Amino acid sequence: MPAEAMGQYSGPGSCSATSCHGSIRPRGDSRILQTEYSTWVVKDKHSRAYLALTGEVGERMARILKLNTKAEESPKCLVCHSLSVPAEKRARTFELSEGVSCENCHGPAGGWLGGHTTRGWTHEQSVAAGMVDLRDLTHRTDKCLTCHLGTPDQFVDHEMIAGGHPDLYFELDSFQAAMPLHWKVPRESEAGKPAEDAAMLGMRQWGTGQAEQLRAELERVSWRAKGKVWPEYSELDCFACHHALGPAAQSWRQEHGYSARRAGDPPWQASRYIVFLHLAEAVDPAAAQDLAAKVAKVQAEMNKLNPDPSAVVAAAGAAAPVAQQFGAKLQTMSYDPAMAKRVMLAITGDAEKISYSGERCGEQAAMALDSLYIAYSKEAKAGDAADVRAAINVLFQQLENPSYYEPGAFSHQMEKVGSLIR
Ligand code: HEC
Ligand code: HEC
Ligand code: HEC
Ligand code: HEC
Repeated sequence: MPAEAMGQYSGPGSCSATSCHGSIRPRGDSRILQTEYSTWVVKDKHSRAYLALTGEVGERMARILKLNTKAEESPKCLVCHSLSVPAEKRARTFELSEGVSCENCHGPAGGWLGGHTTRGWTHEQSVAAGMVDLRDLTHRTDKCLTCHLGTPDQFVDHEMIAGGHPDLYFELDSFQAAMPLHWKVPRESEAGKPAEDAAMLGMRQWGTGQAEQLRAELERVSWRAKGKVWPEYSELDCFACHHALGPAAQSWRQEHGYSARRAGDPPWQASRYIVFLHLAEAVDPAAAQDLAAKVAKVQAEMNKLNPDPSAVVAAAGAAAPVAQQFGAKLQTMSYDPAMAKRVMLAITGDAEKISYSGERCGEQAAMALDSLYIAYSKEAKAGDAADVRAAINVLFQQLENPSYYEPGAFSHQMEKVGSLIR
């Protein structure tokens, strides 16, 4: 392998041969399905990510944001919607219009493209040659979050959202299922572990993804606090500002009161920790209390009308390492159905607080219960699985019109899920 190839991008066409990753049907004899390209090009929205820029909403955003170019020519958009790398990092020609492709996630193939097709070549050799270690759930989540949460170099802020961009939210296990997967689950190397690990993989993915997402969010709120626009509205609870107003007597917000903030101030969005803290509590109560106390400090500052940036940076900086330690533990510990059940009951037992903390919190609870129940029911063969599934689906239906989100009804439905699981 020529040393200068390392770090060079080849484009998805380099992986598409039928004998490589472009097979139509999975190869039974291989750890690798070999249909990855076909799955991506046909079913995966990432292959159409560039097209999103050329549509009506994308073009209008370009005008609103005064990009001075079309959206599909603007680096501000291309960073997340295509394999946008400088000319000197391209080993072959490929088109931006191919969208988010293999190397956006797996890393530049120059160093391993040739080698990885040879017999006896290992994953570790590929990683040493520049492949991203996506087997590691923390690295994997981090890679997804570069686009699905943002970094200082590629971000979606409230200005872009008000211009038409969807708000970014994420949950590893649910998003992978929607992607959809182009790899074998569990992978063979995981089969060496105790049997429950394979069935409980969804819980491991949910938990590790949540810890990493909280860490990344604490980092994001820090770099935003140091940025030019502050406060940055997309860090806050969207529906604190964007709700449908009606008569005072019918307002659930007024009835419920405004905990930990002055009436009328928009609070920090709690969705990235309020559900996760229940898993943390189940895994390590002492560390969970420490994390909750540290996150509460970030919250107390962010819930002010005009949060002090340096106080936010200090509080988030103290909380992030605790989230990171949880991530490391959650990635490697073992899980069983009893634990999944305990965490589901802890979440549904906190239905009221979670529901009244906002639509985005309800959304995380729905995705958590969905992931956990899939993992749990594979193993535990619950008799009333169809009823539980139907009850979880109602949660998702209640989230469909976020400005009209009804926390009372949502909380009631979460409790119903809890009573069915119990
Ligand atoms: C931080 C990465 C990031 C940046 C920068 C970014 N996007 Fe996106 N964009 C996303 C993600 C992720 C989604 C999918 C969100 C989801 O569905 O959860 C998306 C979705 C969209 C959609 C909706 C697509 C659909 O299928 O409904 C449009 C339109 C869009 N982006 C346009 C733009 C434009 C125009 C720009 C530049 C001004 C831009 N994006 C910059 C990450 C980004
Ligand atoms: C949005 C991110 C993303 C994109 C785009 C993507 N992949 Fe993946 N891919 C993953 C993740 C995550 C895994 C799971 C990692 C694992 O378990 O090894 C994976 C697994 C794989 C595996 C199995 C690896 C193993 O060791 O079991 C292959 C092969 C693969 N991808 C090839 C491709 C090809 C070829 C493309 C482009 C046509 C592609 N991927 C596009 C994220 C992506
Ligand atoms: C290079 C940026 C990038 C990376 C990395 C990335 N995504 Fe995406 N993702 C996007 C964009 C952009 C879209 C929007 C595509 C569209 O709708 O046209 C998207 C869309 C999606 C969707 C569809 C969402 C919807 O509303 O239908 C899922 C699911 C998803 N991504 C999962 C993942 C997962 C899981 C990972 C990590 C393994 C990942 N993505 C990594 C940029 C990225
Ligand atoms: C602190 C209050 C506040 C918060 C929090 C906030 N916004 Fe906004 N948002 C506004 C204001 C003010 C406007 C401009 C409204 C106008 O021009 O009438 C706006 C505009 C918008 C628009 C364009 C309005 C339209 O009708 O299309 C969208 C979409 C939007 N915000 C989404 C979000 C999302 C999603 C979040 C959370 C990630 C969020 N906002 C958080 C105050 C807020």
